[in-house]
Amino acid sequence: MDILNKVRNYREEENQLKWEGTFEEFLAIVKERPEVAQTAHARVYSMIKNAGLTEQDNKKLYTFFGNEIFGLEESLERLVEEYFHPAARRLDVRKRILLLMGPVSGGKSTIVTLLKRGFEQYSRTDEGAVYAIKGCPMHEDPLHLIPQHLREDFFAEYGIRIEGSLSPLNSMRLEKEYGGRVEDVIVERIFFSEDKRVGIGTFTPSDPKSQDIADLTGSIDFSTIAEYGSESDPRAYRFDGELNKANRGMMEFQEMLKLDEKFLWHLLSLTQEGNFKAGRFALISADELIVAHTNETEYRSFIANKKNEALHSRIIVMPIPYNLKVSQEERIYEKMIRESDMTHVHIAPHALRAAAFFSVLTRLEIPKKSGIDLVKKMRLYDGENVEGFNDIDVEELKKESQNEGMNGIDPRYVINRISSAIIRKEVPSINALDVLRSLKEGLDQHASISDEDKEKYMNYIAIARKEYDEIAKKEVQKAFVYSYEESAITLMNNYLDNVEAFCNKNKMRDPLTGEEMNPDEKLMRSIEEQIGISENAKKAFREEILIRLSAYARKGKRFEYNSHERLREAIQKKLFADLKDVVKITTSAKTPDEAHLKKVNEVVARLIDEHGYNSTSANELLKYVGSLLNR
Ligand SMILES: Nc1ncnc2c1ncn2[C@@H]1O[C@H](COP(=O)(O)OP(=O)(O)OP(=O)(O)O)[C@@H](O)[C@H]1O
Ligand SMILES: [Mg+2]
Repeated sequence: MDILNKVRNYREEENQLKWEGTFEEFLAIVKERPEVAQTAHARVYSMIKNAGLTEQDNKKLYTFFGNEIFGLEESLERLVEEYFHPAARRLDVRKRILLLMGPVSGGKSTIVTLLKRGFEQYSRTDEGAVYAIKGCPMHEDPLHLIPQHLREDFFAEYGIRIEGSLSPLNSMRLEKEYGGRVEDVIVERIFFSEDKRVGIGTFTPSDPKSQDIADLTGSIDFSTIAEYGSESDPRAYRFDGELNKANRGMMEFQEMLKLDEKFLWHLLSLTQEGNFKAGRFALISADELIVAHTNETEYRSFIANKKNEALHSRIIVMPIPYNLKVSQEERIYEKMIRESDMTHVHIAPHALRAAAFFSVLTRLEIPKKSGIDLVKKMRLYDGENVEGFNDIDVEELKKESQNEGMNGIDPRYVINRISSAIIRKEVPSINALDVLRSLKEGLDQHASISDEDKEKYMNYIAIARKEYDEIAKKEVQKAFVYSYEESAITLMNNYLDNVEAFCNKNKMRDPLTGEEMNPDEKLMRSIEEQIGISENAKKAFREEILIRLSAYARKGKRFEYNSHERLREAIQKKLFADLKDVVKITTSAKTPDEAHLKKVNEVVARLIDEHGYNSTSANELLKYVGSLLNR
């Protein structure tokens, strides 16, 4: 019922948005809201801009793309600032075809689809409203009705420049239907729709022999020639090619460079002069954004061919490389899984991250700078802090690898491998190791990977696994230490007592026998070593702790287990090292004793409740970390 209501509401809304009136009435609208007369390029730009913008670290983040496209902020900023923005201001770039060039499955089609869906919605808003001559198959701009010789006057009065001349069909209709009375011509509001072929056209290359230019520019309607008496009567022509239908909006050319030349030449004149030739008519004006996409190999062979020079100079190429940030890559996978039929499957925490480590590694170029390896570069790119490096280094790294992101493993491959891992497993729950294993096995079947790359990729899987191992250990450590919080506190108090005695050069007293003894150096060192405090640095560290301790005491505050960040880390690590055996027991065949079992169950519960595991993946994690510790 709910959905039917929504359908009804949508229809009602649409009815309310409808508008129809004379050209005279339309001009009143133009006067009040000149934006209804904007060009297709300006409309795209205002659509993107109006959706909102945030700035982060000097980078622009466009809300329009933000929820769907991840990690491509720089490419998108370039796309908007170097193409859409100047094109909106009628600068020369709008006379070029926009060509998105990038590796397979890197998001090119997704970007174009976003623009198309965005256009459909935008034309339903006030700011994005579009008007057209009613009954025109090309939804011609009503302003074309203003005769050429009056356009300067129109500009003086309205501040709007009119481009393009009235089409042959509407010229004829103006005479025959309206007796030349421009002011009476009926204008209507139109709504872009790919399905209804209004303002959005798509063209995909197929067999060049059977593909007809009519698909682009329309064709003669033989059934009506008899009625109108001549092939050159525009009423005997069907203006229903994709270029006709896309007028006022956008035209997508999929795999443009695969197209036959004769198609491309039409694009030349359309982009350059804003018109194209159809049938036996004068040139037909069209105002549309032309966006095409292709991959790098095809692009290279296209520009290598001298014959394509003229076309090439009318193309603006926007590189759309792969995302290079691990955390964004994870989001891509999450989105793809949400959109797939795998939604019922439990994906253990960090499983997608492990895959993302791998795919990002395959896309990165080995840094030339000394002191930095691929893993550090990967972390820096993702905005992590890496000791000894800063933002300037990141910029330098990017500069030395301008072409980065054009190669490597694509997201679709990863998703395919994840689904095959799911199919293989009996339970609908997969973890990082399942994913990495599946990625590895898939490399053999991946036809387009050279032996050399394969070897490199195998190595990246090993690195991704190592990164994951660290995460897994930390995760278990956190969960264990929490269950052992009491022990952590006891251990800390014990340490503090010893530190106090050490710094004040006092003796300790054995709680049982009352005997005097020296501070327990072995205990203190075993904790300090966990966070890499050297023999030379121990005194300073202990004094620092003591100062913190007395500062707390002075303020009447209790020194807690987490009052000193590094000490907390040291205590946790030490405790975990002591607990190794407990973890190991869970993996051994022998039945653990009851007390241990209870703790282990607590840890599993904690992993489930607070860290997003289910019981399968939590037990798998414990078992795995146990085996890591046994090495
Ligand atoms: N940076 C990204 N952000 C969000 N999703 C992405 C990104 N890169 C790829 N994807 C996802 O990967 C899948 C493939 O992307 P898409 O079809 O847009 O790629 P393409 O560049 O058109 O590839 P092809 O060259 O194979 O046509 C889509 O599901 C898309 O959502
Ligand atoms: Mg595509």
